[in-house]
Amino acid sequence: MATLLVKNIGTLQTPVGSYAHKGKEQGENLKLHNAAILAEDGIIKAITSDGQLPCREEEVDSVIDAEGNLLTPGLVEGHTHMIFGGYRQNEIPLKLKGAGYLDILRAGGGIMDTVRKTREATAEELYEKTEGFLDEMMSLGVTTCEAKSGYGIDLETEVKMLEVLKKLNEEHPMDIVSTFMPAHVVEEQWKGREAEFIKLCCEEWMPYVKERDLAEFIDIFTEDSVFNAEESKIYLERARELGYGLKIHADEIEAIGGSVLAGEMKAKSAEHLIVIDDAGMASLAKGGTVAMLLPGTSFYLGATFAPARRMIDEFGVPVAMASDFNPGSCPSLNLQFVMNLGYLKYRMTPEEILTAVTINPAAGINREKTVGTLEVGKQADMVIWNAPNMEMLCYRFGSNLALQTIKKGILV
Ligand code: NIG
Ligand code: FE
Repeated sequence: MATLLVKNIGTLQTPVGSYAHKGKEQGENLKLHNAAILAEDGIIKAITSDGQLPCREEEVDSVIDAEGNLLTPGLVEGHTHMIFGGYRQNEIPLKLKGAGYLDILRAGGGIMDTVRKTREATAEELYEKTEGFLDEMMSLGVTTCEAKSGYGIDLETEVKMLEVLKKLNEEHPMDIVSTFMPAHVVEEQWKGREAEFIKLCCEEWMPYVKERDLAEFIDIFTEDSVFNAEESKIYLERARELGYGLKIHADEIEAIGGSVLAGEMKAKSAEHLIVIDDAGMASLAKGGTVAMLLPGTSFYLGATFAPARRMIDEFGVPVAMASDFNPGSCPSLNLQFVMNLGYLKYRMTPEEILTAVTINPAAGINREKTVGTLEVGKQADMVIWNAPNMEMLCYRFGSNLALQTIKKGILV
């Protein structure tokens, strides 16, 4: 039995409860002062405050002194495209000349460029590159993350990506939740025949991936010039039938019905939602769908920011924030920067922000029972910050304030 005691925690701050928090509750965190936390075999055994210790220091295998700093749950990264070949810094000159994200995509670049490079990459190359990203994420405070396929868009490459993710989940301390996303872009040969491509995904690819237990979730890019709402519905219905959890990239650039559909289908999460309207927000609230907001993408694309305040205050939609890390629309995996944007651009409070990077994304990836809060019985995933409180984390940007990341009771 391995035991760890973290003592001298200035403030232990965490949301409470193993479910997605919405409305007023999104802004409610437990704050314990002069706290300590005991982990046994990777699980939280006891939490104490006001200078009390849950056990004697001599009784445990290791002791970490938090030196009066802030401790929170490990961050949960709910949305990434972190496995890909190459990069896309070569798009910069086009963008400087005024080309937009969809212009580059329509011209056969953008996501298609990454698809070509991902097809060329070997599984070993992808493993090594993605492992580096996981290490970087952990150093920034992330202890659980989601990762999508979607740069293969042929079965062979999609499976290659998902197999690499599965291996990394087994071999790297990060918990990885995999999402199958073959409907990420329309390849030239399928243009005008999108319905046929969707049929191929539904009839052959989805069962193939499910039988091999390679992905828990399915995702689709519902967008102008990509897949429409009707195609998305057929795709998601089949996925649900096969036992996948549902995700949908909706209302990123044009609102074409994606968020309404996400709520109607009770998707676990709806992604982006930059241009969502009232009908979309009402539908998400009704469906209990987590709004997975990606402010780093708004920042990088020079787009507007999703109406997070209205989602929380007027519609009671549980709001999560994630990086969307990918080579095209958000080449950053820094969830701390996302927290800064949550404050500066969404005008969320530090407490709402903590909820949005812990329990709410955990609920969006079906991990709310095991991670996302610091409570007895949950995984001992936590971060000691070079900060006295959450305000400091929302305010300082561009530095890594994570001092120590602890995963399942082990310092990583
Ligand atoms: O979520 N919108 C679709 N997919 C990604 C971008 C992928 C890329 O540009 O490579 C996103 O932003
Ligand atoms: Fe995305």
